[in-house]
Amino acid sequence: MTYKPVRLGVLGLGRAFMLMLPTFRNDDRVRLVAAAAPRAESRDAFVAEFGGRAYASVEELAADPEIDAVYIATPHQMHADHVEALAAGGKHILVDKPLAVTLKDADRMVAAADAAGVHLIVGPSHSFDPPVALARQMIASGDCGQVRMVQAFNYTDFLYRPRRPEELRTEEGGGVLFSQGVHQIDIVRLLCGGLARSVYAMTGAWDRERPTEGAYTAVLDFEGGAFASLTYSGYAHFDSDIWMNNVAELGGRKNPANYGAARRALRDLDPDAEARLKQTRTYGAGAEPPQPEANEHFGPIIISCDRADLRLSPGGVELFGDNDRSFIEAPLDPAPRKPVIDALVEAVRQDSAPTQTARWGRASLEVCHAILTSAARRQAVTLRKQCGIETKETQL
Ligand SMILES: NC(=O)c1ccc[n+]([C@@H]2O[C@H](COP(=O)([O-])OP(=O)(O)OC[C@H]3O[C@@H](n4cnc5c(N)ncnc54)[C@H](O)[C@@H]3O)[C@@H](O)[C@H]2O)c1
Repeated sequence: MTYKPVRLGVLGLGRAFMLMLPTFRNDDRVRLVAAAAPRAESRDAFVAEFGGRAYASVEELAADPEIDAVYIATPHQMHADHVEALAAGGKHILVDKPLAVTLKDADRMVAAADAAGVHLIVGPSHSFDPPVALARQMIASGDCGQVRMVQAFNYTDFLYRPRRPEELRTEEGGGVLFSQGVHQIDIVRLLCGGLARSVYAMTGAWDRERPTEGAYTAVLDFEGGAFASLTYSGYAHFDSDIWMNNVAELGGRKNPANYGAARRALRDLDPDAEARLKQTRTYGAGAEPPQPEANEHFGPIIISCDRADLRLSPGGVELFGDNDRSFIEAPLDPAPRKPVIDALVEAVRQDSAPTQTARWGRASLEVCHAILTSAARRQAVTLRKQCGIETKETQL
């Protein structure tokens, strides 16, 4: 079925918007018709590339009657206010992960979308990556039996990429949990059915110059009996992309000769200079987003089922069965984040919600907080706001 393109507004023309560009430029099911951003350079760049209208405030974007949906790509702590403003204007919403920083804000966002009768999708998130979706389909087919155990780990240079100061303060959504952990949690919840029951975790904040969590290990258990181990380090030493065919998170080729580049780029920068460096990676600053050569990924993931283990890779899923090994390809689309646009188009044009709703995003955020709480108290934390794949809530 073909539909009229979704008329999309964009709120925030920073790094996250840059990373959506290869998708927006290659998927004609969406048309970028308006943007709102505080910086005049990025507004000018938007109008020069896409035409349409550029505003200085979210209120003007919310009042524009020629917009079906808005992609929110502003800093985490602003998401709740922005969702409320746009939902009140009747816009469907795609909000970048994490849904919010606090669970109170997450509750406000669920309520705002419900009250306005609009769809709220949390994405992009790596739970939309084609190999993850393929593994989910393979699990749903029942051929491999039940999911019993998942191992997910990722070693990156996250903590040493240029940051705004609040991205290094946990209480404002800084550190690896809210920006990175939430991807891993989303993926693992999708593979294990969504309904996590409890978390036991340890976290590490090992660099006094960047005093927020840079690492964690968490054990989650799920309704139905599956359990998962999630490990992340953003300390820029070991790089688990070498176990992903030297494909980087965003699908570009990784050059091993660039080892240590993230730390070197930050050397001797004060926080203001670092925030300025981050702005050089933003829309309208001249830099172009990387063109992916493979699907995006979030590090090695192995799923153990009754009759097979599944290993995710950027190219697809490797199946290790009782007697045979095989590889099922997940093709790379010219619009690398096509599954996110599929979800948006289905929500706007068919009134059909994806798995990654506001309630789903709140459940993943609950796990982020539970990891921090478990590590602080040295005890397991019971989860209360989880929802399953069909977006049914267990408890409010
Ligand atoms: N899914 C991904 O791959 C991915 C990658 C990067 C960031 N993100 C997410 O995107 C969000 C933004 O992060 P970022 O790294 O792009 O930050 P950023 O600082 O590069 O961009 C944020 C942008 O929001 C703009 N902004 C600030 N206040 C605004 C307002 N009131 N109205 C409109 N625009 C406003 C800023 O000018 C800036 O351009 C975060 O929630 C982050 O988690 C997701």
